[in-house]
Amino acid sequence: MRTEILRADDASIARAAQIIRSGGLVAFPTETVYGLGADALNADAVRKIFIAKDRPFDDPLIVHIAHVQQLALLARPIPERVWDLTERFWPGPLTLVLPKTDRVPEITTGGLDTVAVRAPAHPVARKLIEMSGCPIAAPSANRFGRPSPTTAQHVLEDLDGRIELILDDGPTPIGVESTVLDLTEDPPMVLRPGGVTLEALQEILGEVRLLSSSAREAAKRSPGTRYRHYAPRAQLLLAESGELEQIVRGLLKAGKQVGVMVRQSRLQCSPAPLVLSVIQMPLDLSEYAQRLFAALRELDAHGVDVIVVEKIEERGLGRAIMDRLRKASSGEQFRV
Ligand code: TXA
Ligand code: MG
Repeated sequence: MRTEILRADDASIARAAQIIRSGGLVAFPTETVYGLGADALNADAVRKIFIAKDRPFDDPLIVHIAHVQQLALLARPIPERVWDLTERFWPGPLTLVLPKTDRVPEITTGGLDTVAVRAPAHPVARKLIEMSGCPIAAPSANRFGRPSPTTAQHVLEDLDGRIELILDDGPTPIGVESTVLDLTEDPPMVLRPGGVTLEALQEILGEVRLLSSSAREAAKRSPGTRYRHYAPRAQLLLAESGELEQIVRGLLKAGKQVGVMVRQSRLQCSPAPLVLSVIQMPLDLSEYAQRLFAALRELDAHGVDVIVVEKIEERGLGRAIMDRLRKASSGEQFRV
């Protein structure tokens, strides 16, 4: 199959909608990351998403809608507090986990009796959903386990030859995925920190819990969290600002090709010229999030063995960023 990239204009979105309606796959931009979409109510179409991504079938998908009115088709019962949340955060990077209706095929929800739903804010995503006339199931459009795609080029790197069409609308503005909030729990629980911060949710809901990083609890509640995610090909190490230089020196001494992501320039002294690639990450957290996945892919492209990332503060968007970095670094010991 040849994969085509088209600039997202009315004609190409209409063509993409036609592909979705006929049970095919299309990658499209959202305000968070690029998604890989199929008709959420067509089990055969949704199955193709898992195959194209090499994604385990028990990892449920997010269903995207254009209008809050479509929620009733997918979820029942809908608790009262949903309406405060949708009024404040939709369209936008907030995904709500609710009890599913029979209309949603089991394959879409990975066999769970709940469904994750969000209304994306990106105009291309909205138009695509409207023109398709169906809710669109879409995980991030990366090969399973790889950093999420924030450009059409990233999608092509991972899925070339596996999907028909990529709609290109440039880099995605937020850069990390949506916040996944489980409303079947009381108090509600954030299963994945993302574009809507915990602080903003607390303003609306009062008490909100954050899923503990304990692997067992994570696996039980959000199947996707049990796998290694967002990982570049290189080994990723997280370092406190103060220990960064020492770690880099040690790696260089061991003959490693090292890439570094730092916010403050800690590497002005001797190792700097030896380090293959240094990416200076923005101080501003929104800009950092926007750069994050592209930076990981860039360092991979430079062929480094190890990427050392300076830890950042875990507040606001910093929680989502550190969550992705931890998941990208977990699961493997440093290979000497
Ligand atoms: O921003 C985003 O959310 C992007 C764009 C494309 O919308 N999508 C995205 O999808 O990140 P994906 O599949 O890469 O991540 C979805 C996460 C997974 O961790 C999955 O396990 C969780 O949401 N999830 C989906 N349905 C769930 C459910 N019913 N219960 C608990 N977790 C669920
Ligand atoms: Mg993903």
